[in-house]
Amino acid sequence: MELLEKRILQDGNILGKDILKVDQFLTHQVDYKLMKAIGAVFADHYAQAGITKVVTIEASGIAPALYAAEALNVPMIFAKKHKNITMTEGILTAEVYSFTKQVTSTVSISSKFLSKEDKVLIIDDFLANGQAAKGLIDIIGQAGASVVGVGIVIEKSFQPGRSLIEESGIPVTSLARIASFENGQLNFMEADA
Ligand code: G4P
Repeated sequence: MELLEKRILQDGNILGKDILKVDQFLTHQVDYKLMKAIGAVFADHYAQAGITKVVTIEASGIAPALYAAEALNVPMIFAKKHKNITMTEGILTAEVYSFTKQVTSTVSISSKFLSKEDKVLIIDDFLANGQAAKGLIDIIGQAGASVVGVGIVIEKSFQPGRSLIEESGIPVTSLARIASFENGQLNFMEADA
């Protein structure tokens, strides 16, 4: 997605050897026009797939997921990272290990929001090691629903997340794919949409 790649080049900052800071438009301040355009690209790509729910994980996945859900005219569900006292009924959970933060968290979705009939599109802001997406795939599987695809705003293609998801037979659609950060220079490879 050319608009997104341009914005990453304009406002993204490389931190260390493998982190991209995009807090100007995605992970802290959010550019809703860009998010809406991103949602439309995901929705176009999956227009014929019969998607019934969009699922993401808090926090930064919510904005692109919500616009994708709006464009597909289906509900958006975000997995919670912290137990909430109002989540009293059947809860589906998965353990997600973050290599970046080196912590394991339990993510959860109320079982009432997913059923065997659901065809789910997972959306997330970053794909790095793939642990967040793997946890969501696990939870959706527990509900007996199927995952049709994983839509990613920014994929760091030099990390193993994409292969991990594709190994389970689920297609990945990334709107920007970063091949490398070399000497502070960001190199893209061809995106999926
Ligand atoms: P994974 O989800 O692909 O396994 O990745 P990893 O464990 O490495 O990432 C943990 C968190 O760091 C995730 O956010 C992920 O989106 C984010 N992340 C990974 N690489 C980058 C990066 O290069 N830049 C930025 N800005 N974030 C990155 P989170 O903590 O689960 O969620 P959130 O609350 O920050 O959305």
